[in-house]
Formats: sequence, structure tokens, C-alpha cells
Amino acid sequence: MSPGIDDSLPCTFVIFGATGNLATNKLLPALYHLEMAARLSESLNVVAFSRRPWNDDEWREFMREVLADKVKDGVDTPVFKRFLARFSYQQGDLRDVASYEALAKRLPTADDCSNAVFYLAVKPAEFSAVIRNLEAAGLNKPRGRSRVVLEKPFGEDIESARMLNQLLHQHFDEEQIFRIDHFLGKETVQNLLVFRFANTLIEPLWNRNFIDHVQITVAESIGIEDRADYYDHAGALRDMLQNHLMQLLTVVAMEPPAALEADAMHDEKVKVLRSIRPIAKRAVHAHAIRAQYARGSIDGEPVPGYQQEVDVEPNSVTETFVAAKFYIDNWRWRGVPFYLRTGKRMPRQASMIAIRFRHPPQQLFRETPLETLEPNWILLSIQPEESMRMEIHVKQPGLDMDTRLMQMNASFLKTDEQTLDAYETLLLDVIEGDRSLFLRFDEIEWAWRVVDPILKHWTVEREYIPTYAAGSWGPADANRLFDSDDQTWRNEL
Ligand SMILES: NC(=O)c1ccc[n+]([C@@H]2O[C@H](COP(=O)([O-])OP(=O)(O)OC[C@H]3O[C@@H](n4cnc5c(N)ncnc54)[C@H](OP(=O)(O)O)[C@@H]3O)[C@@H](O)[C@H]2O)c1
Repeated sequence: MSPGIDDSLPCTFVIFGATGNLATNKLLPALYHLEMAARLSESLNVVAFSRRPWNDDEWREFMREVLADKVKDGVDTPVFKRFLARFSYQQGDLRDVASYEALAKRLPTADDCSNAVFYLAVKPAEFSAVIRNLEAAGLNKPRGRSRVVLEKPFGEDIESARMLNQLLHQHFDEEQIFRIDHFLGKETVQNLLVFRFANTLIEPLWNRNFIDHVQITVAESIGIEDRADYYDHAGALRDMLQNHLMQLLTVVAMEPPAALEADAMHDEKVKVLRSIRPIAKRAVHAHAIRAQYARGSIDGEPVPGYQQEVDVEPNSVTETFVAAKFYIDNWRWRGVPFYLRTGKRMPRQASMIAIRFRHPPQQLFRETPLETLEPNWILLSIQPEESMRMEIHVKQPGLDMDTRLMQMNASFLKTDEQTLDAYETLLLDVIEGDRSLFLRFDEIEWAWRVVDPILKHWTVEREYIPTYAAGSWGPADANRLFDSDDQTWRNEL
């Protein structure tokens, strides 16, 4: 072990799929920002693994190109040079063990700093091959504290998730496995925990006595881009609802953990998922709706329908929109519907949690213009901007009993502050070995159990799928999920 090297920190960060979308748009910029913030140890080297026949210099040129407009201050700074110098390139095929043996030769030996992070920024179909080959090349065991990072989706149903987990556990200990859901790295999501559990004002109201319902929306304006091979078999339920939306639900609904530690957090989230009322086979139609985008326009530009996208199977019935209703049968939430929806080709990108409170019990303002007063809302925007607001009514100055709606801004950001990208937080946690923002397998398994009845029902019913115009907020039919007439989807903050 070289002097000055902290044995608990990895010295090598291997990115499998380094030329891909995730790596170039998220991982490389996030690592660079950690470099700027001086949070990467001097001994950390990064190996980019991909199949293009490049050498180190060609890879670095690629990095300069893809990062030119993504990093603050550009690519001609001393910091960027220092960053580039950390990188080397390993050409190889994910399915070929010889490529991993070549990779192993590049990594420091056991006498030196031997820990590595293996980040699987590759299609889920490649996960098993990478895990097996890491083992075959001996890249797991002797390096006791090496870490493997997996992106969502973790499996495509409960059975395949279990198999993947089993495979992982054959070769890695649980402490080495980092299952990412990047929504958990977002500042607003972490701030929600602080908002709920650090303010005595809020927590007493956070239950069935005061809350009418909860809405969680993750809307994307993009279509499926060039991901048809993956998306046409996955669909919105698997791609978004089972993971991101379910995670948001657990953070809204969980009890305070005993400590802010990984296992205590996971325990509470699992309790929420276990308390979700199972959807009976015959009730799927009442609890979930799916649809697919047809032609339409976004920001005034015409966009194709899903069926016209490149590589989508003709007459595909894959859903690009899903809305579902869940009940959490515990003391805090029994009877409060949680409405979740996500879709592609919606009018704009927006991820938000909207919590509507009940009407006041006394109709004090009956026979005044305030008779139909909207109840209070707490609104959390996760993206594009991260903010937190409360809507309350105040009287308008004047002779009449009129009100106006005030938005109290509870945002944690001051005007001159910027939020971190979720990947910056998460990559640092991987390097430092903090697993609290990553998923334990039972969370994933329970989330699959919750959506399993819907998944099974839709797998069988494959003759027809309703459509919605691209650029709309989804099919009107999504309104039928609501328990009462005064509930509607909240599209704006
Ligand atoms: N994109 C996102 O923003 C995003 C967000 C959340 C989660 N994810 C997850 O992240 C993972 C990666 O997604 P992505 O969108 O980045 O995929 P992608 O753009 O298709 O990238 C895949 C990468 O894998 C490489 N690759 C594929 N087959 C290979 C092989 N046989 N041998 C060596 N390299 C091979 C590709 O190299 P070539 O350049 O040679 O093709 C490319 O670098 C997926 O699990 C996805 O679900 C992505």
C-alpha cells in the first residue's frame, strides 16, 4: 500500500459503456464537477471501457468534444487538463472475458490501491454478462472493497429481478452493490426528508386526518429517442413507475427512520411498500390506465407518434403513459389515494409531488365568494427547477370577502445558489461507500410486487392501447382514477 493512499477509497473508477448516453450526459459531467470541487482523491484514475477501437488520446479527444458545452468554464482550463489526465481507455466487448482480463492488467495490483468502482452504464440486457465476466477475470473477490453500480431498471419483473440479485450475490457482498435510482440523489427529494422530519410544524399534518390525496407526476417532453430496442419491451410502467415514482412515494409516505443510516432508511421505505394494498386482478382497470402517444406537437413543432418512431414494432401496444392509484393501508395513510402518473411527449418536462389538503371542516365562508375555496396544497418540484411551495389563501384588502392565493416559497435555494446534479451526489457516495441513497434489494422486490398485477394484466391484454396526442397531458381517461369529482390532475405549480 503506497503511503498517503486511503485504503477505504477506490483508486480506479471503471465506466462500462463510457461512450453511451448516460456516461456522456451524466457521469462524465458529474465526475468533472467533483474534480472542480476538489472531491476526487489524487489517486483516483478512471478507465473508460467501450467497444470503439480507440487509444487513450482518441478517447480524451472524444471527452473534449462531448463535454465542451456541458462543463462550466470549458475544456481549456487547468482543472479540465487535470481531469483528462485521470482517464485511460480500454477497448473491449462486454461479452468477451478476454476484455476483462485486459482491463484487470490495467488496474493497480493488490499491493497498491486495489479497490475499484465498476459502473455499469450499459443496457440492462448486458448486466449479467458484465457481472459474470468481472468474476471470471477475478475482478471481484480479491478486491474486497470494490463496488459495482447498477442503473435502473433492476430486472423486468419480480422473477428476473430476483435472478439478477442472486447472480450479484454469488460474486459480490451486499455492501459492494450500489443499485441506483437517481431520483433519490436529487436535492428536493432529500430536502423532503428535512422538510418533514426537521420541522415540527409539518409532521403533525402529514397524515390521513389532513391530507386529501397525493399526486406524483413525472412528465417528459422527449419521446423515446433512439431507445426503441429497450423501450418497446419495457414501457412506462417498468421504465419509470416501478422505480422513480415508487421511490418518490416511499419518501413522501415513510415514517421517520431511527437514524439517517442506510438500513434504517431502507427499513422504513420497505414498510411503506409492504403496506400498499395489493391490486386484485379484477381491479386493475379501476386502478391503472395506460396509453401511447400519437402524432402531435410540442412547443409548436410537429412530432411523430410512438408507432412512427424508428425501430418500434408495427402495431406495438407498449405504453408510453401510465397513471395508477395506490392506497397505503397503515395508520398514517389509510384511505388517502396516491395518484401516480408518468408519460413521454407531454407538454414539458416536469417532475413534481403535489399534496392536497382537506377542506376546512366548517363552511364558514358559505354564501360569500369564498364558498368554493380551493384547499391548500404543498407543491414540490423536482425538475426542471427544484422548489417547494405552500399554497394558502389570504384575504384581499378591500370591502368584500375576496381572497387571493399566496404561494409561500419554502425553497432551500437562495437566488445565487445552484443545485447539484443528482449524479454528483451519488457518484461521491459510491466513492465514499455511503449506501443510504441507493436501493436495498427488498425495496426493489416489493416495488415489483406492487406493480406486478398491472404488469401481468397488460401483458395478456395486447390487442389495443388508447392514444393521447403528443404535447398533451395524457389521455382524458386518466381522470377516471380520481375518487371524487373535485380531484383533478395538477399540471402546473
Ligand atoms: N441515458 C440516461 O439518461 C439514463 C438514465 C437513467 C438510467 N439509464 C440506464 O443507464 C444504462 C445505460 O443507458 P444509456 O442510455 O447510456 O445506453 P447507451 O447510450 O445505449 O450506451 C450503451 C453503452 O454500452 C456500450 N456497449 C453496448 N454493447 C457493448 C458491447 N457488446 N461491448 C462493449 N460496449 C458495449 C455502447 O458502446 P458503443 O458506443 O460502442 O455503442 C455504449 O457506450 C441503462 O441501464 C439505462 O437504463 C440511462
